[in-house]
Amino acid sequence: MNRNDFPMLMQDIVYFDNGATTLKPNSVIEGICDYYSNYSSNAHRGDYKLSLKASKEYESVREKVKEFINAKDKDEIVFTSGATESLNMIINGYFKYNLNKEDEVLITKSEHASNILPWYELENEMGIKVKYIPLTENHTVTLDNVKNSITDKTKVISIAHVTNVIGDLRPIKEIIKYAHKKGILVVIDGAQSVGHTKIDVQNLDIDFLAFSAHKMLGPTGVGVLYGKYDLLDKLKPFKYGGGMNISFISPKEIEYKELPYKLEAGTQNIAGVIGFGKAIDYINNIGIDNIEEYCLELRKYIINGLKKLKNINVYNENVEGSTIAFNIDNVFAQDTAIYLDKYNICVRSGSHCAKKLEDELGIKNTCRISIYFYNTKEDADRLIEALDNDKILEESLGV
Ligand code: ALA
Repeated sequence: MNRNDFPMLMQDIVYFDNGATTLKPNSVIEGICDYYSNYSSNAHRGDYKLSLKASKEYESVREKVKEFINAKDKDEIVFTSGATESLNMIINGYFKYNLNKEDEVLITKSEHASNILPWYELENEMGIKVKYIPLTENHTVTLDNVKNSITDKTKVISIAHVTNVIGDLRPIKEIIKYAHKKGILVVIDGAQSVGHTKIDVQNLDIDFLAFSAHKMLGPTGVGVLYGKYDLLDKLKPFKYGGGMNISFISPKEIEYKELPYKLEAGTQNIAGVIGFGKAIDYINNIGIDNIEEYCLELRKYIINGLKKLKNINVYNENVEGSTIAFNIDNVFAQDTAIYLDKYNICVRSGSHCAKKLEDELGIKNTCRISIYFYNTKEDADRLIEALDNDKILEESLGV
């Protein structure tokens, strides 16, 4: 890894908002420019060389994603606009037609809005029940808590692999194994995990997985919906149009394509998917295990630094993710983020789209440091120094 690969890092910034979106290496940017400059054309729709190349490049990324998450079949990989769209497709395209009134879905209060709101809507629309798995005092999920939450009516568990504020890595292998014994399907929101830790969908036996390219070096507007073939095949498309049909004569005489194309109506984000392929290459070159190890080490370094400071309250010291949620005592989280921005240090503040977490933490807003592999100890030192500067804190925040 070379920080020079990231044009954004040529600026004098400390970028600790990787949970929101990661920076992009030159290879991703160049891959997108190459498509637009040299073979810009639609995929799967042209019988000329340029279009055939666009189709080939686009499909080669499907193969790369398949390898990256170890799916059984490349047709289990559907390109979407992001994890949010993938989750909405799973919930509204599959579960809406396979759940009944009073069936229960288990989630947690630390889920992102994208894994809560579509379920709430389904509760309002069809009378399913959304229930919460209790969290431990460290705001984590245990298999025992999952077991204790399951009833005869539980039909699906829908949880993040790693949450976006607390950053806890859930024991999904054990949860899925237990759920399957009970005939319960498991949806995994991988938005915060797929670029940080190895995911093997076959080994974990994941039923549905959603993730975004832009949180793993890729462009915005691209995501993945993975599903086991037989489940995915039952998912009703939410978009109908070109590229997904074989023939349509009348409402009763329609023939759709096989997976994955029947779920990819309309012109896809071809440039974005091609850029995503370059992002996967970049991650593979470093090695996902090295990324995980490095981020955990840097996280520990930052936590140790923060612990030496007065007035800093860290909410998630003992978890295995890449985020640190904190507040300065008596200071509004957004004021802290704006203060850090004076030093060109980028962190996110607020509820981070995880508004039910307030019930667990007892506070609405936090500052979130989210780490990726291009962050350094120097970045961490700059952050800690900025937060340690009593005089500036006094001047800027009046504490
Ligand atoms: N879901 C993104 C985050 O956690 C935007 O910041």
